[in-house]
Amino acid sequence: MVKVAVLGHGTVGSGVVELLTKNHKSITDRAGQEIEVKYILDIRDFPDTPYHDKFTKDFQVILEDPEISIVAEVMGGLSPAFEFVRSLLEHGKSVVTSNKELVAAKGAQLLQTAKAHNVNFFFEASVGGGIPIIRPMHQCLAANEISEVAGILNGTTNYILTKMIEEQMPFDEALHQAQELGYAERDPSADVDGHDACRKICILASLAFGHHVYPHTVHTEGISGLDLNDVAYADSWGGVIKLIGRAKKLADGKMVATVFPAILEKHSQLANINDVFNGILIRGDATGDVVFYGRGAGKFPTASAVVADIIDIAKASCTSKSLSWDDSPENHMADYKTAPLRFYIRLSASQAAEARQEIDRLFGEVEYLARSGQPENELALVTGEMTEYQLEEKLSQLKSGTLRSMIRVLDY
Ligand code: HSE
Repeated sequence: MVKVAVLGHGTVGSGVVELLTKNHKSITDRAGQEIEVKYILDIRDFPDTPYHDKFTKDFQVILEDPEISIVAEVMGGLSPAFEFVRSLLEHGKSVVTSNKELVAAKGAQLLQTAKAHNVNFFFEASVGGGIPIIRPMHQCLAANEISEVAGILNGTTNYILTKMIEEQMPFDEALHQAQELGYAERDPSADVDGHDACRKICILASLAFGHHVYPHTVHTEGISGLDLNDVAYADSWGGVIKLIGRAKKLADGKMVATVFPAILEKHSQLANINDVFNGILIRGDATGDVVFYGRGAGKFPTASAVVADIIDIAKASCTSKSLSWDDSPENHMADYKTAPLRFYIRLSASQAAEARQEIDRLFGEVEYLARSGQPENELALVTGEMTEYQLEEKLSQLKSGTLRSMIRVLDY
């Protein structure tokens, strides 16, 4: 029998306890032994749950109980989650977590602590909700040199974008629905402004390239500035706008990591991922592109990944020493503006014909776009490939038009 503690009884924590109870028989078979929840830590009271006798408000009780060998940290946030997890690992307890903020900020350090104390620190649930991604990357794709990771990593923003684009639902209503469904972060600006996707691309990039990627080194933009006129132009081009997190190795071995709304061609794999679903593309030199798809947020999808980590530890009763990456300096990161891309731009120009001539002279071959209701003084186009510095230089020279929006175009 393995006794576990669950830190936090929110959406994911309650899902973990319910799943361990509901699937007790099959989980016991797969783990090779029973898994029992001995404690649930929460500062709130839950007198009406069937597990009310398991609640404690005292972390020390869990830390000092020698019967507890595995702890699920599903509280979220950096503090006190970090202090709790570090102490647990130092006390010889394995930890599994869904906390992407924690792994993105402290992953390298906690993996080293786990290794030093011969225990596990697993975080399958931190990226992609119920989608298996950490273990497949670490194990099944281990023979590959990975050149690129890209994905729709945030269920809330994908849900909002889908509702806005397909159902013309106002932003606030779509966000409210995502909150009701338990997808959104406690502070939804973490979703809307791209920080959640940033944390997830940090984790995937660290795993793929072996160096810890810190969130402050990732250029991050959210979806709040999106204009429905740009959605219409993207549609006329045969594209859709998605919030994409990506990390790519450049020719010099450095890496660029970014989160921003991007236009994808409609037939591409990531373009067709809607609602709360996430999709993650891994480009390996042996496999080519591998795409993982599933529910990226929500109570039971995320609990499924947390419980799978618990089962793995209970089953193996050994440590995964190979799951680690370097806590190296940041000079492995390149400036994202040096990576070549195509760009969608929308401009206003009082003399559209004159502006087109100037654009053609500055940019060379471009694709002009049209939308219904397009005002005469509006121009929208997709450029050829260039770096963002080159784009900025050309735009600074443009005299007959004013930039209204710019969205990067990605080929996935
Ligand atoms: N708020 C996150 C999302 C939850 O919407 O994807 C899952 O990490």
